[in-house]
Amino acid sequence: MDYLEWTKDLDTGVNVIDKQHRRIVDYINQLVDATETGDNESISDVFDGLIDYTITHFTFEEGLQEKAGYEFRSAHQRVHKVFIKKLGEYKKDFDDGNVDAVIQVNRMLRNWLINHIKNDDADYVPAVQKMLGTEKKSGWLSRSLGKFFGGSDA
Ligand SMILES: [Fe+2]
Repeated sequence: MDYLEWTKDLDTGVNVIDKQHRRIVDYINQLVDATETGDNESISDVFDGLIDYTITHFTFEEGLQEKAGYEFRSAHQRVHKVFIKKLGEYKKDFDDGNVDAVIQVNRMLRNWLINHIKNDDADYVPAVQKMLGTEKKSGWLSRSLGKFFGGSDA
């Protein structure tokens, strides 16, 4: 499997979100590496890490949308929910002994993530950017990052 390259068109323009998206891409590439080794235990670890990180990222992103009063946040949240459910199903499939589930999830992740970033995420960016501009001095963002990721950085 090939690595997923980060391309400029995946940048949303919201720095904190782009960092987290890059981290998800790193996880996808780690999953490619683990798959190459064929070691089921490493695959399972990376898989779990990817799911965990994605859930945290989505929760953070939803908080950002909430704070920004983004109009379509409940629809966006539903999309996240469905995706997490799907991820869990692939993981279960893998745990049940279907090793190909890791290849299937990789394919799904690439398509889904790229499409989601370019369309769904791009849509909330203006609202979030506007909010972040006015919230800069209150320290809301760094507090929120600390809460979710345990540090001032994602
Ligand atoms: Fe999203």
